Amino acid sequence: MKINKHYSEISESYLFSTVAKKQREFSAAHPDREIIRLSIGDVTLPLAGAVVKAMHDAVDEMSTKEGFHGYGPEQGYEFLKESIRNYYAGHGVELAADEIFISDGAKSDLGNILDLFDKDNTVLVTDPVYPVYVDTNVMAGRKILYAPATQENGFLPMPDPAVKADIIYLCSPNNPTGAVYTREQLAQWVEYAKAQNAIILFDAAYECFVTEEGLARSIFEVPGAKECAIEFCSFSKIAGFTGTRCGYTVVPMALEREGVSLNKMWLRRQTTKFNGVPYVVQKGAAAVFTPEGMAEIQENLNYYRRNAQVIAQTLEECGIWYCGGKNSPYLWLKCPGGMTSWEFFDWLLDKAGVVGTPGSGFGSCGEGYFRLTAFGDAEKTKVAAQRLKEALKTL
Ligand code: MLT
Repeated sequence: MKINKHYSEISESYLFSTVAKKQREFSAAHPDREIIRLSIGDVTLPLAGAVVKAMHDAVDEMSTKEGFHGYGPEQGYEFLKESIRNYYAGHGVELAADEIFISDGAKSDLGNILDLFDKDNTVLVTDPVYPVYVDTNVMAGRKILYAPATQENGFLPMPDPAVKADIIYLCSPNNPTGAVYTREQLAQWVEYAKAQNAIILFDAAYECFVTEEGLARSIFEVPGAKECAIEFCSFSKIAGFTGTRCGYTVVPMALEREGVSLNKMWLRRQTTKFNGVPYVVQKGAAAVFTPEGMAEIQENLNYYRRNAQVIAQTLEECGIWYCGGKNSPYLWLKCPGGMTSWEFFDWLLDKAGVVGTPGSGFGSCGEGYFRLTAFGDAEKTKVAAQRLKEALKTL
């Protein structure tokens, strides 16, 4: 018996587990201090009323012989796929229902999709990067190349035709930097992927935060992207489903490699290894797209947007460079006083009782930067911003 040795090539714990552990240790040592968490991108507002009602109704249905649902379709119920199809159509993207696969979240699918690809494929990620893209590929023994995202390129690296890649991860609005690609920039990535015969894995988990014209919400807004891209999205950020769990993946019918349909492969994979998302949860997810659901959700998104403004204003007043926070729930700032990311983490926790996420945890290009989330409680976010301001005065 042999274990997968590649696990020894990843760090011992996942970034957000390390951050949470450090926070617990600090709290245990300072029980009198109130800690404000602006670290992991976890939402704080409750589920929208329309979602809760739909889930209650679904539970009631499940309690009757006629309304009971056992195993559902592994790829999701038609009613939810139809709602998602309409949501995309509202942004000018036409999808077929069979191109949409419902799952328990984007993170799982981003890892699971790798079942479809050969181990010898080369992976290209931006740096800094959501650690899941890197860790899941290292676990599988794949070679990883990094496209540096820097202050100079606005944290939006563009393809280098000299670099040969097979699988390309893009996340826009970006986690962790909050930077967002325009449609034209994504068109260049599509062109590059096609020239390389590569596949783009596009993480659109934060698309609901895009408000500015010209910024893409979906890679499929780019003509021809259906021949080279898979898109992952989630109800976590748009509708507060971080604990409820529901997401979806779009695998276009037009996506083929070596004469094989990736859509068919993914269907085969899901029907074999996955038994679907609970009926009650899918009913709740579908309610997100009703007029009442959408109205409530926009209010929640505006609440988080106001948090982002509070943090942004404080950073501006303190003369700290940052990006993001406009079409994104994340603010990406330069650590003051030349501190490294972890030095600033410790300093901020000690001086202000605020927990953020060290940029270096997302990759070497993240060193010297720091991520704050706008998903916190509004009052606590204001207190955190005030504490940050006071603390910075002592530097
Ligand atoms: C984050 O903080 O980066 C996200 O919450 C991670 C995730 O969505 O899994």
